[in-house]
Amino acid sequence: MPKEIKLSTANWRELKMDGAGAQTSVMKKILILLVAGIVMLSSCYYHKEDLLYGSNCDTTNVTYSSTTKGLLNNYGCLGCHVGNNPSGGINLETYDNVKTVIDNGRLYGAITHSSGFKPMPDGAAKMNSCDINKIKAWIDADAPNN
Ligand code: HEC
Repeated sequence: MPKEIKLSTANWRELKMDGAGAQTSVMKKILILLVAGIVMLSSCYYHKEDLLYGSNCDTTNVTYSSTTKGLLNNYGCLGCHVGNNPSGGINLETYDNVKTVIDNGRLYGAITHSSGFKPMPDGAAKMNSCDINKIKAWIDADAPNN
């Protein structure tokens, strides 16, 4: 393999080895490639999730009625935050109720599990990042009553 000789010092070392030594070196390379392959594969999955819930997440046309309200319902928030004696004293039934905890940052802090806030939904898995991003987009648009 004369072409490879000038490529790297690793190849130079390999060339100097004889028989078994060179073979071990080749085995090592295969092992390294395998490990690298597995690492790359798993990071691929990671990126796929990123794509699903991150950059591929459609945060356009988010509104209170079609986005935020539905998500609060889907994630069971309304199971606890309704009525005269809602959990944590926080009612999420109406736009005005929701706007209050948007303005004081408690809703976003809670759903993003930020420190200093009670992680929500209480006792259940965190909302997926795409849904959080949608709510964020609505908040960033000044949380209109639309
Ligand atoms: C099983 C009942 C339950 C569910 C479901 C639930 N919450 Fe809560 N929530 C609570 C309780 C209880 C508290 C008060 C916790 C405390 O003060 O220790 C609370 C507190 C909060 C707070 C105040 C957090 C703070 O630190 O100021 C917000 C905002 C909130 N919830 C929003 C939500 C949202 C949004 C959802 C849905 C994604 C949700 N909750 C789902 C029970 C629930």
